[in-house]
Amino acid sequence: MKDVIQELARRKNAIILAHNYQPSEIQNIADLCGDSLELSIRAAQTSADIIVFCGVHFMAETASILCPDKTVLLPNPDAGCPMADMVDPAALIARKKALGNIPVITYVNSSAAVKAVSDICCTSANVIDVVNALAEDEVLMTPDRNLAQYAAGHTDKKIHLWDGFCPFHNNLTPEEVAAAKQAHPKALFMAHPECPPDVLALADTIQSTSGMIRYAQISPHREFIIGTEVGLLYPISKANPGKRFFPASEKMLCKDMKKISLEDVKNSLETLSGEVRVPEDIRKKALGSVQKMIDLA
Ligand code: 13P
Ligand code: SF4
Repeated sequence: MKDVIQELARRKNAIILAHNYQPSEIQNIADLCGDSLELSIRAAQTSADIIVFCGVHFMAETASILCPDKTVLLPNPDAGCPMADMVDPAALIARKKALGNIPVITYVNSSAAVKAVSDICCTSANVIDVVNALAEDEVLMTPDRNLAQYAAGHTDKKIHLWDGFCPFHNNLTPEEVAAAKQAHPKALFMAHPECPPDVLALADTIQSTSGMIRYAQISPHREFIIGTEVGLLYPISKANPGKRFFPASEKMLCKDMKKISLEDVKNSLETLSGEVRVPEDIRKKALGSVQKMIDLA
């Protein structure tokens, strides 16, 4: 299957991008695996005609925003992000207005329509840089309240929160982390900024998914507890032979990130099914906020 897909991709001048949470067999056929920021940058730079995005819907939309001349495929159109559905453009416009039109920083885990009414985007890898790059001293962040609270601890700006969250990261508890630390006393605890503040307070380091992989590579430590979606255990173990990684909780499993199969990728490439194309009027508006983030990176 790997050979069939890679040959198809070569013939059609397609690039396969996979998020770090994707199933191992999908990561193994990808041209690039990475976090949201790395995948967006790669999508913006590729000379391929087709981008096969193995991730969730907002990621394919971001590629479509950046690359209107390319065909962007999401091999399983059902792969969404529950957090992205926790904000809609009308509610965001109303809140921004109520706050006196302060700038809106929107996490990439959001729809293109929401990005279109935002001032700048951010990811878990660059949220602090984005917040501090703005001239204004008051901002609204959406949709992830945990990411916003994390950023608030690294800036003098006042950050207004939106009440969204990732159901899997938000459910991680300090008790689960304490139990993992007790089971693995020599391990460092790495947390994703989508985790709640009482969990982040226990972290030795707070990182994006690719940030965790790099941190483990340069750290002298040999054992790590991973406070993010369990899919990361595959690429982080592969990149760090001889080191050991333990999930903070086995319950941190995002079903949407596991929806794409090799069969889906093959079918999508063969028939160009699962195309994600952002309507041009929304795309043009959303591009401003995504491009500002990429330029900053
Ligand atoms: P990263 O950008 O850190 O890979 O995170 C994406 C995501 O969906 C986290 O839940
Ligand atoms: Fe969305 Fe959470 Fe899944 Fe990431 S892990 S895609 S934030 S639901």
